[in-house]
Amino acid sequence: MGAPQREIRVLGIETSCDETAAAVVSLDGVRAEILSNVVLSQIEDHAIFGGVVPEIAARAHVEALDGIVEAALAEANTSLDEVDAIAATAGPGLVGGLIVGLMTAKALAAASDKPLLAINHLEGHALTARLTDGLDFPYLLLLVSGGHTQIVLVKGVGSYERWATTIDDALGEAFDKTAKLIGLPYPGGPNVEKAAASGNAERFAFPRPMKGEARPDFSFSGLKTAVRQAATAIAPLSDQDVADISASFQAAIAETLEERVGRSLDRFRREFAIVAIPALVVAGGVAANATIRSTLQALCNRHGFAFVAPPLDLCTDNAAMIAWAGAERIRAGLVDDDAMHFAPRSRWPLDNDAAPLIGAGRRGAKA
Ligand code: KG4
Ligand code: ZN
Repeated sequence: MGAPQREIRVLGIETSCDETAAAVVSLDGVRAEILSNVVLSQIEDHAIFGGVVPEIAARAHVEALDGIVEAALAEANTSLDEVDAIAATAGPGLVGGLIVGLMTAKALAAASDKPLLAINHLEGHALTARLTDGLDFPYLLLLVSGGHTQIVLVKGVGSYERWATTIDDALGEAFDKTAKLIGLPYPGGPNVEKAAASGNAERFAFPRPMKGEARPDFSFSGLKTAVRQAATAIAPLSDQDVADISASFQAAIAETLEERVGRSLDRFRREFAIVAIPALVVAGGVAANATIRSTLQALCNRHGFAFVAPPLDLCTDNAAMIAWAGAERIRAGLVDDDAMHFAPRSRWPLDNDAAPLIGAGRRGAKA
């Protein structure tokens, strides 16, 4: 047994897309606690443009971040003096926002003489299930957000293998584009889900892209094209048409995920037969979708996997996951002494060995 570990308290900052967020997380031995988790969404600033406008996002981060950091410290009933380190998202994401968050963190670290941790946003998503559910390595992560659609093998802190990714659109992007095509407002995902509730999922036979293919990746652009063709063919769309397209689209997505993710569950079983109850963790905004959640839950049940879906506010972008990744890195002795010189990275794969795919994660803003 090692010596008892003292508490590690980390201030986290997240500004990689359109949420300005700060949080304080404490790790005491093995006990993890979120002391505060403050998120300011900019959705309203961007809605009239139908998507995130990078310049508006960066400016909004500049205006809001100081106050959000103060609020996170106050809510945690702590001060900068009492935190052990400052962790900030350093990529991937919109570079303007990353600069704001990372520079603020550098200034706070310099002023308080505390170590800085430059965190990969995807690592934050990947490790969240250890904060919420105390999950042990290894496990599988399905990340489905506006900028990423990936299956990642999480082997340890800083140790990841990308098993699958999208070869074109991210899943959230497919929802957002489909919404736009059928006249639903931004952000598309929640609005498509709402419309789908009163729709007929069998009216349109949309494709199940990649179904049956041996390679484990995703593709959603063909589905989007099929939606466009169907919508054009029956335009102008009635409310019922919009509902039926939404429901049919969502059904195609659910079935596609089921088949695609199932392949990686099988692979995990083969490679990690020793893990008695393997786990699939879901993260990213699309994980809010109830149809997708129940499809994944049923898939996991069939495969003997535990399905771990962290609470929604920790599935979507937040700073608690960044602070937590920082705490995990400190515990694992992975503090980069040169972090003060770390430059933000708009692209930063979790798995450096994974071959970049043309078009994958094109939007790159959200993860
Ligand atoms: O994780 P998130 O808040 O931001 C990042 O992308 O990192 O995810 C946002 C994405 C958007 O594309 C949004 O349309 C999608 O998640 N989304 C949904 C739902 N809620 C959010 N997609 C489908 N169904 C939902 N209920
Ligand atoms: Zn994200």
